[in-house]
Amino acid sequence: MSKFIIKGGKKLSGSVRISGNKNAALPIIAATLLTSEKCRLENVPEIKDVHVLLEILENLGAEVAHPENNVYEIQCAEVSKTKVPDDLAKKLRSSLLVMGPLLARFKKAEMVHPGGCVIGRRPIDAHLDAFRDLGAEIKEDQGYYTAKWPKLKEQKIFLGETSVTATENCLMAVALEEGPVTIKHAALEPHVKDLAEVLGKMGAKITNEGASYTVEGKKELSGFTHRIISDHIEAGTFSILAVASGSEITVTDCNPENLEMILVFLKRMGAKFEIGEHQVKFFPSKDLQAVRKIECGMWPSLPTDIMSPFIVLATQAKGDTLVHDWMFEGRLFFTDKLIKMGANITLCDPHRALIVGPTALHGAKLESPDLRAGIALVIAALCAEGESEIDNAYQIDRGYENIEGRLRDLGAEIERVN
Ligand code: EPZ
Repeated sequence: MSKFIIKGGKKLSGSVRISGNKNAALPIIAATLLTSEKCRLENVPEIKDVHVLLEILENLGAEVAHPENNVYEIQCAEVSKTKVPDDLAKKLRSSLLVMGPLLARFKKAEMVHPGGCVIGRRPIDAHLDAFRDLGAEIKEDQGYYTAKWPKLKEQKIFLGETSVTATENCLMAVALEEGPVTIKHAALEPHVKDLAEVLGKMGAKITNEGASYTVEGKKELSGFTHRIISDHIEAGTFSILAVASGSEITVTDCNPENLEMILVFLKRMGAKFEIGEHQVKFFPSKDLQAVRKIECGMWPSLPTDIMSPFIVLATQAKGDTLVHDWMFEGRLFFTDKLIKMGANITLCDPHRALIVGPTALHGAKLESPDLRAGIALVIAALCAEGESEIDNAYQIDRGYENIEGRLRDLGAEIERVN
């Protein structure tokens, strides 16, 4: 397993280009299963999760071409298999996203319980309940699911919880049905909307009203060309790095509209920045102030995936911050590693951490337990005096393209050791 060696305590400077949105690329790759025509995806992040999902599609029979970096051409004309290979399904949560399209096109799907970040139990009830409401028959045997979908039963379903991937799976499942089918209590994240935009390009008519989508699908959907939206979680991550390290960094190729809530909290903490059309420029901010509570929520609230970097930032702010991630019971379990670096954090319960700052951080030997904790530890190591080692770099590679190269371009002392 490769690891990062980081020498922290330096001011960084320069600009960083934000990659395509991981959580938009993944459902859009799955959506190519809905058509036999060629689909061209641009601005795709070159990250492990994308590569594994593409491997799953190839295993099912898809043809995948990679004409240039960040561009993939996928054609699922020859797809006939409906069983997802266990070893690949276990590598990432988003393997679940092929279930909807397989049920739509082949009326059946088989897979083992998906893998993914160890940030919580991560049930898939929201998906299975929704598919059953739509008329699917799903057998579960020790974490192995066999689904078949004789015919569409309901024209309106309610998601048991506002699940991002369950919303995406349902949009894809009904995209080949004339409908209309309404999905209520749905997620509204930018990446869900990007998938809806692609399904629209393929020929489905999708309208969104409040937390509901109504889909009028078509028996035959066409191929598409689509540029994946930029990744607001990655943009937020680099924004927090700039503020926490007191650096002058411009975050480019991003969509500030999708950063609004993150910027509200950074501003309240005293961050100095200028918002441009596709960029945000950060200036060294002194005397950061803690905000009393930082809590995640459904879009447009603060995304849960930015909680881990915010915890690191809170260690550099003056005062007490309560961070509350009610969505994942394992999200905060990396705080012990920040305490080892000198942070003053009390884990009140699996969902709440109390951070008292500011505290000087010092380098330590660390390991990234999950994707977002991993990048948070990188931020902490860059802010810390001395050298840190972050093992299990694979977790970070799952979601951040060429992270060490982009950090080095900002002046960071980071190297990967295999
Ligand atoms: C997606 O996961 C993302 N993954 C996750 O990003 C992200 O953390 C999550 O949405 C929330 O935004 C992809 O898009 C591939 P959920 P998903 O079903 O769909 C609970 C990353 O780091 N919950 O939206 O699996 C729910 O039970 C990954 O990029 C409620 O309790 O997540 C689950 O435990 C990690 N009540 C958690 O929240 C609700 O009303 C997330 O739910 C809604 C959700």
